[in-house]
Amino acid sequence: MSSDSQLLKESLALIEPVYDKVTGYFYARLFVENPHIRSMFPLAMDVQRDRLFRALVNVIQAVERPEQVVPMLQQLARDHRKFEVKPEHYDAVGRAMIGAIKEYSYGEWTDELEAAWWRTFGVAARTMIDAAAADTDTPAFWDAEVVSIDRRAPDIAVLHIQPDQPYPFEAGQYTTVEAPHHPRVWRQYSMANAPRRDGQLELHVRSLGAGWVSGALVRKTRVGEILRLGPPMGTMVLDRESKRDVVCVAGGTGLAPMKAILDELRRWNTTRKAHLFFGVRKASDLYDLPAMQELASRYPWLTVVPAVSEDFDYTGEHANLPDVIARNGSWYSHDVFAAGSPDMIKATVAKFRELRVPPERIRFDSYGELDRRGTHRHELDRFTH
Ligand SMILES: Cc1cc2nc3c(=O)[nH]c(=O)nc-3n(C[C@H](O)[C@H](O)[C@H](O)COP(=O)(O)OP(=O)(O)OC[C@H]3O[C@@H](n4cnc5c(N)ncnc54)[C@H](O)[C@@H]3O)c2cc1C
Ligand code: HEM
Repeated sequence: MSSDSQLLKESLALIEPVYDKVTGYFYARLFVENPHIRSMFPLAMDVQRDRLFRALVNVIQAVERPEQVVPMLQQLARDHRKFEVKPEHYDAVGRAMIGAIKEYSYGEWTDELEAAWWRTFGVAARTMIDAAAADTDTPAFWDAEVVSIDRRAPDIAVLHIQPDQPYPFEAGQYTTVEAPHHPRVWRQYSMANAPRRDGQLELHVRSLGAGWVSGALVRKTRVGEILRLGPPMGTMVLDRESKRDVVCVAGGTGLAPMKAILDELRRWNTTRKAHLFFGVRKASDLYDLPAMQELASRYPWLTVVPAVSEDFDYTGEHANLPDVIARNGSWYSHDVFAAGSPDMIKATVAKFRELRVPPERIRFDSYGELDRRGTHRHELDRFTH
């Protein structure tokens, strides 16, 4: 570990107990010193749900591993074009971030530490500024018309949307969505299809309790409305060179990217076998099972295993996903894909590790925070596993 990296690690350990205060100070300072930046952020800013500060700290920490972090920063930079971020904003964000850490480092701050923070932030900022400048052939965002909404359960909807311009993506990736009901609030949703000739995208959305965007998409959105999309993100995509069989594990609407991956496989695969494990709590949550079973009936290389964990009337496989996976085969020579809630991802990845699947063959998207320190841990984990 380089000396900068060691210094930053110690610096972060020092502020850990007062992390929420540091975050509050970061935003207050950013907006007081740069009032014009405030309008780029959501109207309601809940410190617990802050995105930028935690993400910044996670990313900056990882800058020393360029082979993993540079592709992520490049994707982030393309994504930041939708916020209308300009090169001059980076200095403002750097000053607020480093100022906030300094404020709560009490007597432990030194010139050497400040220089280490600026060097590391500078590398990340330069990478993002250059990547955004190089991204000249795609729009900063897309407007997509809602073509259909199919409510499959009280809290689950399948939407088809039509972007106004070609939306280039790979099966397994996700988009970010801003709904008209909540300006400047963006959430991630995975495409549930491989790219289609007509350009349509399928999204599967589960509304979560008081969830802003998911609630709006499932309950308020109407056909004809326009959603705004950021560029495609994520690296959970098929390796076309691989000859290995595939195992896909979906928890709830984690089915979306798995459906896309299987849709992609269907277009050219003749040799690779695929298993889909689709786990839900209640049988009524198996919202897209008929489509998956229909696919399996047409393609003999595909096996679909639904699993229900909390519904005692269900007559099929009745268990948690990791147990069902372990019972159904040995997976150490497979390429593994998984998406779903953080708990489901943690348990599933642990099970595959226990079954001796090499970590670099396990790709996953967690639909929420994997730990307290970072909305975007899923990104870092995906790049580091
Ligand atoms: C890479 C990625 C891909 C995703 N793909 C999909 C997808 O295809 N389909 C889909 O339905 N969702 C997907 N999600 C989740 C989605 O982005 C949102 O996080 C989710 O819809 C909640 O957003 P919201 O604005 O409705 O809730 P928020 O307003 O963000 O949260 C409202 C309340 O719900 C709680 N909450 C938030 N998330 C969770 C959670 N996971 N479990 C329990 N409580 C929670 C919060 O603590 C808060 O109290 C994906 C997430 C990621 C990171
Ligand atoms: C090295 C520099 C930066 C890094 C690593 C970084 C990283 C991130 C990440 C990972 C997110 C979370 C995205 C999400 O949850 O979907 C985010 C959100 C955001 N970033 Fe950046 N960012 C940087 C610089 C900037 C700058 C200079 C601006 C301009 C002011 C900016 C504006 C935003 C905004 C508006 C959001 C959304 C916040 C929200 O939804 O609450 N970022 N950033």
